[in-house]
Amino acid sequence: MRKPFVIANWKINKNVDEALNFLDAILSQLPDSDRTEVGIAPQAFAIYPMVRSARKTDLQIIGQNAAEKCNGAYTGEISVRDLASMGVNYVMLGHAERRHYFKESNQSINRKILTALREGVKPIVCTNGERKNVGGDNVFSQLENVLAGVPAYQLANITLLFEPTAAIGAGNRANIETAERGCWLLRQEVRRKFGGEVAEHVRILYGGSVNPNNIGLIMAAPNVDGVLIGRASLDAGSFAQMMNYQQTTLSSVI
Ligand code: PGA
Repeated sequence: MRKPFVIANWKINKNVDEALNFLDAILSQLPDSDRTEVGIAPQAFAIYPMVRSARKTDLQIIGQNAAEKCNGAYTGEISVRDLASMGVNYVMLGHAERRHYFKESNQSINRKILTALREGVKPIVCTNGERKNVGGDNVFSQLENVLAGVPAYQLANITLLFEPTAAIGAGNRANIETAERGCWLLRQEVRRKFGGEVAEHVRILYGGSVNPNNIGLIMAAPNVDGVLIGRASLDAGSFAQMMNYQQTTLSSVI
């Protein structure tokens, strides 16, 4: 059974006070952690205060990025070893915006993944479809390259993410068929590369224009195990609703 994972990606929004106020508003509404895992990826400087503030809960505070190296002369970078030392369990690597604006390559993302695994932080590995379609070839070559040298047993520590580029930050461009097809394609590729058992267990998330109105349908798709939410996660009420999507879906059925 793959546990659903609902993640807020705040990008460079919210200062420390705003981040802590947001936690105050949502912590008492966290869903049962046996049924749903919830995470928030804030700006790097908000991670430590948020980890402290959420320490008695199962909320995951997630890094948005980390460097290939763990220490040394790399001004401005974020060390995954030091994320681990703060109690961070997950780090996003290779988000579409990192690839687009900061020219991150598959090779660099691959090195970051290997470093994170070595330091015991679980990578959330992002792949993107192309502008006009699911972009199977693009997704396959990204996956192939970023997972080079990763042994099959480590897939238990990896979460995959599929995002069609056109749906990121687009407001209302999520398409349920595209979400399912992209996640299904990724699972097929994991099956081909690492075998059926690994493919059955790996969590694959969808991202791009997820909001309180479409999350129920997206999460009902058989190959979608979770969502990464940008814009709609910035409002505490809307995020609280989405992290409790199972309850909402259930009550709308009854
Ligand atoms: P969005 O962002 O929900 O605003 O489309 C998604 C993302 O950051 O990946």
